[in-house]
Amino acid sequence: MDVLAEATRRSREGHPVISMAVGQPAHGAPRAVVDAAREALLTERIAYTDALGKSELRERIARHYRSHYGVEIDPRRVAVTTGSSAGFNLAFLTMFNVGDRVAITRPGYPAYRNILTALGLEAVEIPVGPATDFTLSPGLLEEAASRYGRIAGVLLASPANPTGTVTGGQALSALIDYCDANGITFLSDEIYHGLTYSGAETTALAASDRVLVINSFSKYYCMTGWRIGWMILPEAAIRPLERVAQSLYISAPELSQIAACAAFDATDELKAVKQGYMANRKLLMKRLPEIGFDIASPMDGAFYAYVDASRFTNDSMQFSKTMLAEINVAATPGRDFDPVEGHRTIRFSYAGSFAEMEEALDRMAAWLS
Ligand SMILES: Cc1ncc(COP(=O)(O)O)c(C=O)c1O
Repeated sequence: MDVLAEATRRSREGHPVISMAVGQPAHGAPRAVVDAAREALLTERIAYTDALGKSELRERIARHYRSHYGVEIDPRRVAVTTGSSAGFNLAFLTMFNVGDRVAITRPGYPAYRNILTALGLEAVEIPVGPATDFTLSPGLLEEAASRYGRIAGVLLASPANPTGTVTGGQALSALIDYCDANGITFLSDEIYHGLTYSGAETTALAASDRVLVINSFSKYYCMTGWRIGWMILPEAAIRPLERVAQSLYISAPELSQIAACAAFDATDELKAVKQGYMANRKLLMKRLPEIGFDIASPMDGAFYAYVDASRFTNDSMQFSKTMLAEINVAATPGRDFDPVEGHRTIRFSYAGSFAEMEEALDRMAAWLS
């Protein structure tokens, strides 16, 4: 947050800042989405909707599961949310009790830990790295349970932020089978689905209908500011979650719900955006190590390069601040994702334009040589 605020301040002052800090696409929402929103603004009364969302969108999302994954989902199980961020709040409040332990990876998306803690749950951070394929396994969960006590839930993102790890179908099934057998709620953050560059991407719903899937229009669909996402719920959670959603949010914004229906058909435009990420990824994979940042994790999905910066720093926060001040390149200090080891790592987002990536790499190469 500090680096972002400083980057925004410097930009406003006219400095040529390139932000590789924020995890958001440089591309705006697909054309069809904007057209649908424009039409709705002129012709409809934008209002509250049912707490779990408009039936058109819930049905469209269910159809996406059939066509994209070959999985049948009853639209009743779809809950439309104000971004996946609201989804986490709703899911945690519905599925867990105060004091419950929920396992997450370290490194991982920092809001998991923060939301869990704010809601009185215990975040059990399980370190992952090369020895564990950067993901969780039944063995790691058993170890955590014997160390900390009963684990009530597991939350895993695949592809993951910041590591780009894609957990393969078999590994995912093994994890979900273990959770099902041990009465552990499995939450699958699939927000980076669509952005996989190596290996197939599997929805957790292919393994079990007891999992809770969290997804969003923010990343693949380039709709961060529209604050719209969804969840696929286990049958028993529908009614309790609906009650919490109604009380906390009333509904997700109707304008965004109407527009999001068009996102699933913007295939060609979104494929072109993904091609752009692939070119950026290739560039970063080559040039970051040449500059001295070894790639620290797989980069198989999402749009992040998580790098080892220990050749230059033992304080990634200070390093990021200095880099921003001296060459106007913003990146995220690893401390955000990993409070234990992140002092020597940095995350670069490559969701910007190719020209920006090239320019940022040139500046860093000159600065660090
Ligand atoms: C892994 C992961 N999950 C969820 C989110 C939140 O996204 P949103 O609330 O925009 O859907 C992010 C954002 O960076 C993320 O990286």
